Amino acid sequence: MTERLIELKDIKKSYGNVYALGGVDLWVDKGEVVGLIGDNGAGKSTLIKILAGAVRPSGGEILVRGKKVFGWSAARSREAGIETVFQDRALAMQQSIVRNIFMGNERTNRFGFLKVAEEVREADRLMREIGFTSKVFTPHSIVGQLSGGERQGVAIARAIYRAADLIVLDEPTTALSLAETSKVFHFVRQVKANGRSIVFIGHNIHHVFDIADRFVVLDRGRVALQAGRDQIKTAEDLIGYMEHVAHQGRLAADGSLAKGVAR
Ligand SMILES: Nc1ncnc2c1ncn2[C@@H]1O[C@H](COP(=O)(O)OP(=O)(O)OP(=O)(O)O)[C@@H](O)[C@H]1O
Ligand SMILES: [Mg+2]
Repeated sequence: MTERLIELKDIKKSYGNVYALGGVDLWVDKGEVVGLIGDNGAGKSTLIKILAGAVRPSGGEILVRGKKVFGWSAARSREAGIETVFQDRALAMQQSIVRNIFMGNERTNRFGFLKVAEEVREADRLMREIGFTSKVFTPHSIVGQLSGGERQGVAIARAIYRAADLIVLDEPTTALSLAETSKVFHFVRQVKANGRSIVFIGHNIHHVFDIADRFVVLDRGRVALQAGRDQIKTAEDLIGYMEHVAHQGRLAADGSLAKGVAR
């Protein structure tokens, strides 16, 4: 039985008379990694900002575990267990891993003092949960000294600490080397193994192909393709579909793989 965590239905967003999103459906099941891809300006960030409650949609509805939620907002999104790691993920580079994880959510006693030991234990547990195993770094290490992939790990750990069932990563590997990217993939696989869900936004189709269970391709504010990993054999096939979409418009009215398109 799959458990539907969240469902966005017919989401529209217009800026003036420009439609950034023209009626998009997106759903995420428990324990699933959804790869959200599409060209610059396709609407990926707009869609996840709506999911985060940071941007209000012009139309459509949002369901959490099958129930329609009214008055969707950042607070509702967080209540639903959604945490987004935005492109500029706002880590404090001069601060330690533990301070970054608890930033804005500090654990204090009734006198307002930080429960430092408890936070360090919890940071250690979180880093372990996502598979951050380093002999060099401890929760006290300064984030500015970590590699790009490890910093993504800190951002993911922070999202988990905020009780995320669904973690949205907006282009987490864009600026990273191959080795750093594989670190992020390792974290994502751990997060999934722990029953959480991920929406992974990427430009590099090969990256997304390697990590996602299902692909959603946005094209000019619409879902051009929605396909499971089992429906697409190679990253090249996925790129082929996307090129087809770019030239021919959508593959099928329902966004599914149209017959005769597969090469
Ligand atoms: N605040 C805004 N005001 C006006 N137009 C906007 C605004 N935010 C986004 N848009 C427009 O909406 C469209 C979708 O933008 P969005 O940032 O969601 O794309 P994206 O798929 O995330 O692109 P990228 O891959 O470059 O990050 C673009 O045409 C963009 O110019
Ligand atoms: Mg974007």
